[in-house]
Amino acid sequence: MTIDVTPTSVSGINIRSSQNRLLIKNGRVVNEDGMEDADVYVEDGVIKQVGRNLIIPGGTRTIDATGKLVMPGGIDPHTHFELEMMGAKTADDFYKGTRAAVAGGTTTVIDFVLPQKGQSLLEAYNNWRQKADGKVCCDYALHVGVTWWSPSVRKEMEQLTSEQYGVNSFKMFMAYKDSWMLDDYTLYQAIEACAELKAIPQVHAENGDIIARNTEKLLAKGVTGPEGHEMSRNEEVEAEAVNRACVIANQANSPLYIVHMMSKSAVQALQIARARQRQPLYGETLAATVGTDGSHYRNACFRHAAAHVLSPPLRPDPATPQAVLDALADDHLQLIGSDNCTFTEKDKELGKDNFAKIPNGVNGVEDRMAILWQKGVNTGIMDPCRFVAVTSSTAAKIFNIWPQKGRVAVNSDADIVVWDPRLERTISASTHKHAVDFNIFEGQHVVGSPQYVVVNGRVCLDDGDLRVVEGFGKFIKTPVNSPYVYGEEAADSVEPRAQSPMIHTPKRVTNGNTPSPGFGEELKLVNKQLEAMSGLPSGCSTPTGRKMRDTAQRDLQSSSFSISKEVEGLDTKTSVRVRNPPGGKSSGLW
Ligand code: URP
Ligand code: ZN
Ligand code: ZN
Repeated sequence: MTIDVTPTSVSGINIRSSQNRLLIKNGRVVNEDGMEDADVYVEDGVIKQVGRNLIIPGGTRTIDATGKLVMPGGIDPHTHFELEMMGAKTADDFYKGTRAAVAGGTTTVIDFVLPQKGQSLLEAYNNWRQKADGKVCCDYALHVGVTWWSPSVRKEMEQLTSEQYGVNSFKMFMAYKDSWMLDDYTLYQAIEACAELKAIPQVHAENGDIIARNTEKLLAKGVTGPEGHEMSRNEEVEAEAVNRACVIANQANSPLYIVHMMSKSAVQALQIARARQRQPLYGETLAATVGTDGSHYRNACFRHAAAHVLSPPLRPDPATPQAVLDALADDHLQLIGSDNCTFTEKDKELGKDNFAKIPNGVNGVEDRMAILWQKGVNTGIMDPCRFVAVTSSTAAKIFNIWPQKGRVAVNSDADIVVWDPRLERTISASTHKHAVDFNIFEGQHVVGSPQYVVVNGRVCLDDGDLRVVEGFGKFIKTPVNSPYVYGEEAADSVEPRAQSPMIHTPKRVTNGNTPSPGFGEELKLVNKQLEAMSGLPSGCSTPTGRKMRDTAQRDLQSSSFSISKEVEGLDTKTSVRVRNPPGGKSSGLW
């Protein structure tokens, strides 16, 4: 059941204070650096206490989280709501899009302001704020695209990074020739500007010139269908751009964040660059990359194939999802977003006779967390702490909103997901909350989903019932000079980055193998991971005084996984697997 409460339907009631006290009891709190059994008390949208035997005022609503995980709400670092591109407008607006986000456990999204060439960045930013502010059901922040260059653009970048506007990240495109693409000279200038402003440069890494030429050649040969999309921009076209972007960032002595990394070759290029470069390099992949693959481009149904078109594309290599999951687990990639950019069937048909005209984009904001839990945690590739890191806390750190966001701790925003690792459901467009009639994860059975989602202290998913409020979310400013990115340990270090304390050692729990268990087996595996982790001594203090484990203690044995043999050994210090973790046989959840 879905109940949408609009501001008018609750007129006279202060929706921010109507549920101002909440106790989440008996759950297991999972943060990116450890977990503990603890209750969480929330008042006026903020976490006030975490621990056992808390003293709670009367009249407080209690949620029993026995057998559940209490995690920071997801932060999706990559969405496009109400975006106009390629002659169409995305189906999910800021209301429907953030409603879908909350349904899936995400409580903050970071959307992209994308100015047209020649348009003022400030004007575009103001348009986005106008579109979003009254509609968002959860908090949001903004990246801004640098789609052209002039002294006025440089000046506006500086203005946008001020306290007034609160932007700390800029996206540059190496693809979409003739619309958003920058040449290398301009890209270099834009990255330099980001470094000077201590903002985070982001790139869409694909070689736009090669794509343009390949597209001409394919169309001339009569390849007009969606399969031409991937053919025009194969792995090499992505990997080349990843390497080039890293080189340019290195020349500019800048950190770099590469969005939507879609292929093994691209991840490999990043892995090599991370081993050689001194400034931090971050790689983001997508729910789509780990949850589906490029075989769909060859589906005979245009609607089906076109619905999977995004850029960079899904890859036909069936080993891609597993390799990307491994890279996420091993810290060769640091985050997972959705790149939610949904277009209706009618919009996708703009490219019926020419794949290059199919509006680019897929769904993902709703299913991102469940897909990663299913593919990554239930299979033993990553543990729940790493899940929290890649779905939430690393984004909060990079974009400098941590620990306000991305952490279950005293004084953090009460953006919380109560995750039921037993909850089973089948993903479908017939039940999802998106404003589009297609879901790229259609029919996938997932075990593990949110039961409750708390947004700024308000229960917005209530035992499965969606109770969002349009306009309840707020704009979150992202200050420049993120210590995680620009702190002493992260920048200007001559040490290999793997040795930096700012870089979190990845965690792996594989129980000695990588099984493909049935659903019962999946749950046992998660139980085993949780049990293995909770029995260990701890290294960092929690608000309760109880020690939580530090990362080194959780990483019991190391291995040397890498994405390919060619780069084996380059970055092995960041590659840690836990084999045969202690904890023995699981007898169930707690
Ligand atoms: O296909 C995609 N990724 N659509 C959204 C625009 C972008 O490049 O992120
Ligand atoms: Zn992009
Ligand atoms: Zn995007």
